[in-house]
Amino acid sequence: MPNEDPSVNPDPESGGDRSAEIVRLKALLDAAERVVIFTGAGISAESGIPTYRGAGGMWSKYDPEIYASIDYFRRDPSYYWRFFRDVRHDLITRAKPCPAHLAVAELERRGKVCAVITQNIDGLHRKAGSNRVLELHGNTNRFYCFECRAPYSIEQTCELMEQQLPPCCTECGGVLRPDVVLFGEMLPTEVVNEAAREAESCDLMIVIGSSLVVYPAANLPYQAKMSGAGLVIINVDPTPLDHVADLCLHCPAGEVLPAAVELNS
Ligand code: APR
Repeated sequence: MPNEDPSVNPDPESGGDRSAEIVRLKALLDAAERVVIFTGAGISAESGIPTYRGAGGMWSKYDPEIYASIDYFRRDPSYYWRFFRDVRHDLITRAKPCPAHLAVAELERRGKVCAVITQNIDGLHRKAGSNRVLELHGNTNRFYCFECRAPYSIEQTCELMEQQLPPCCTECGGVLRPDVVLFGEMLPTEVVNEAAREAESCDLMIVIGSSLVVYPAANLPYQAKMSGAGLVIINVDPTPLDHVADLCLHCPAGEVLPAAVELNS
């Protein structure tokens, strides 16, 4: 049976009716008591940080096997560190939260959002004012020594980076590494378990700007749906979970989320 409600899974080619989609999103927000937000690189694209996949994505220019895998980091960490120094550092430190990050934080202030689960490592949800942020892939503003695990801030790391690349621990001389999950590493168990609990107990999950192709993170929206929650997907491009979502908005997050939050107030 084709779905005749134009606000549900609208045809991305048709452009949909944006204001009807915003009203539908607002209605879902009104009806929900425990909202969980799940974000990917697309939300930070509006803060000027390129996504990983798709046209202009990071991984189309930099092979993640070389620049973001634990195997390669162990073999030769200088690739990662040159990538961080020349490409990532400026992008991350200059980025400011965008209207969609701020809308998410506002929903938490109102008691609607109980958790933000993010695959992003840029720290922008916290900068926007969100407090309950579960970072599945770590945070690139933190570093530690690969040998003795001494922690380093981004400022300390940048100072050390000016002296030598890769930067080394002032205590033991070990190579520093980012506090992020590189390809080939396990996700932090406690964070994953907490995220799973949130996914299973929310009544609405809103997925913003994730291609939903990287596991295990991409399981969480499916887990939420299977536990009875409503599922909204806001993404410029189609995702593999669009067919199970209650509402899909194929547009930039900043075009719809702040407007729906405004209406919800
Ligand atoms: N609003 C909404 N969606 C957007 C926007 C926007 N303004 N801009 C881009 N997008 C969408 C893209 O269409 C794409 O589907 O965001 C998605 C970003 O997908 P990815 O680049 O694959 O990012 P993500 O899903 O977060 O990747 C997951 O992969 O490489 C790893 O560890 C990295 O955490 C990352 C993980």
